[in-house]
Amino acid sequence: MRVSYLIFIASILITSSCTTKKSNKDSHGQDNTDQKESKLILAKDVHSYANIEDIRTKHLHLELDVNFENKKIYGIARHEMSDHNVNQAIFDIKGLEIIKITTGIKNENNVDFTIGEYSEQMGRALNVAINNDTKFINIYYQTTEKTEALDWLAPEQTTGKQHPYLYTQGQAILTRSWIPLQDSPLNRITYSADVKVPQGVIALMSAKNPRERNDDNLYHFEMKQRIPSYLIALAVGDMVYSSLGDNCGVYSEKELAEDCIYEFTDLPKMIAAASAIYGEYQWDQYDIVMLPYSFPFGGMENPRLTFANPTLLTGDRSSTSVIAHELAHSWSGNLVTNATWDDFWLNEGFTVYFENRIMEALYGKEEADILATIEYQDLLASIETIENSEHPEDSHLKLHLDGRAPDDGMTDIAYVKGAFFLRTLEQAAGRELLDEFLNNYFVKHSFQSITTEDFLSDLKKDLLEPHNIEFNAEEWIYQPGMPENHAEITSPRLNKMIQLANDLNEGGKIDKAFENKTRGDFTTQEWLAFVRTLNSSTPHSVMLALNNQFKFSIEGNSILKSDWFKLCARAGFRDVQDDMQAFLVKIGRRWLVEGVYQELMNSNSKSDHLFARETFKKASSSYHFVTRTTIAEIVK
Ligand code: BES
Ligand code: ZN
Repeated sequence: MRVSYLIFIASILITSSCTTKKSNKDSHGQDNTDQKESKLILAKDVHSYANIEDIRTKHLHLELDVNFENKKIYGIARHEMSDHNVNQAIFDIKGLEIIKITTGIKNENNVDFTIGEYSEQMGRALNVAINNDTKFINIYYQTTEKTEALDWLAPEQTTGKQHPYLYTQGQAILTRSWIPLQDSPLNRITYSADVKVPQGVIALMSAKNPRERNDDNLYHFEMKQRIPSYLIALAVGDMVYSSLGDNCGVYSEKELAEDCIYEFTDLPKMIAAASAIYGEYQWDQYDIVMLPYSFPFGGMENPRLTFANPTLLTGDRSSTSVIAHELAHSWSGNLVTNATWDDFWLNEGFTVYFENRIMEALYGKEEADILATIEYQDLLASIETIENSEHPEDSHLKLHLDGRAPDDGMTDIAYVKGAFFLRTLEQAAGRELLDEFLNNYFVKHSFQSITTEDFLSDLKKDLLEPHNIEFNAEEWIYQPGMPENHAEITSPRLNKMIQLANDLNEGGKIDKAFENKTRGDFTTQEWLAFVRTLNSSTPHSVMLALNNQFKFSIEGNSILKSDWFKLCARAGFRDVQDDMQAFLVKIGRRWLVEGVYQELMNSNSKSDHLFARETFKKASSSYHFVTRTTIAEIVK
């Protein structure tokens, strides 16, 4: 079964690689060869109801009215469909109210539709009755308070406090909660939009964006490159644009503009470095939008417009690797996309590897190794957690998430084991050959969604076999944990900090090591390695002295704060609880708050559980759905 499947893939790949240069452009100037479409049949996306193997959206035009009073978007989603031979088109919806559906472009006719049963995981199927010759399907809808993608903020929750704010988060399968569509990364579409907003705010999308607010409060958008649905994104707020270079800049509330310019000043160099490694940047413009603190991620790679969390404004440029990461997704993820959420490592593992290459190009190998070493520390902890969990098979790169949320695959396995796969492959093949292979991979599969098996077959055919390279790719992809041949990365500077922390763990005195030292004597990454190595046996007197001297609980990088609070919770050190609570209430970046709540709930003391629950009560209304549901699960 597997063998014939692989042969089938191989033959498709051969056909498509022979034809990618031939142009077969549709009305939106995009390549839509049949060969590319036929690949869709191969993979099955268990997280979508859509019948994309029969009929699929080619272009989506959105007409949106953003209403802050009702916290609703009133929309029309106009789908231009592929040629087909079926009498029903199935879309994904979740928490949406469908008002009516029509077909046609100038003369619209109402058509029948039915809505399927609700699944907590996937929402509902929207079945639309059509004819063989139906080309346009127009879905009139409104969002509801059950929407999972949208975060509506009151003016008080913004920095400027004058205007409300709205942003969306689509990945992995939340787009269906603000747009009725075929919500699968297997399909790629171009899109356009007309968006109406209230006075005083600007609308931005993952598309060609305005630089300034206009007086009629109506904005038009075009995304001419084909993208998967999870990359459709919208942000609305009172923002200004600051240019950072020829083709890049940052949108933010005006109060944050200067900090953004300082923090992201190296962006043009990053774009140049990335393009030099894996080929020309394909999306024309690269901008960042600085969202409110509630944004559940550090960054999200929406094409042309990375969404960023203000925790990246560290004041010391110690989180710029997140921008390198989101930029890297312009190749791995946005240009070549995971076909299903089981192939998520193709997005994130490649991106973490590429992010590190960009950091190396800008700041040198020592800095890049420091970052990779810290990731590796995280990975070891995650593997242990996963191996002792209900799903030990989650430590395979290729996942099987049927019946589960795609979110379950968002672990260090995809990110860091994935990156170590490529680092180890780099050692086996040499950087030059690996880069040549990856350059070809990005060209060959650009604007395609591919499976792990597609990649594996390319790897063998284009790299391993022609150059006689031995590499245990299958073990990496289909077996648990870390294969023994994994690349070893160490950092002497971090080792020194780890040593210092171990001394303290064993009862050492703080004045000996840290006399006359200030926070600025070590970099944020060095402090991270230090704090992570401290364990709960560190005496409270030492923790208090450290906090007084270095202000971990109130100053600087939020990742370091989060790690410090995790340690405090684990050690039952409660002197910093006020700072901890202020942090958890202000910041909605899931990864930073999740671990702190988890440590509090792991505690043996009931008062820690109570504190976690009270804090969540104060914070939850300001969290995005993504963070709220994760934390609710932890504190319940
Ligand atoms: N694409 C991810 C965020 C994501 C993944 C959202 C899956 C929803 C589902 C983004 O590129 C990311 O990885 N962000 C990280 C950055 C980090 C690894 C440098 C984050 O937010 O912390
Ligand atoms: Zn990522």
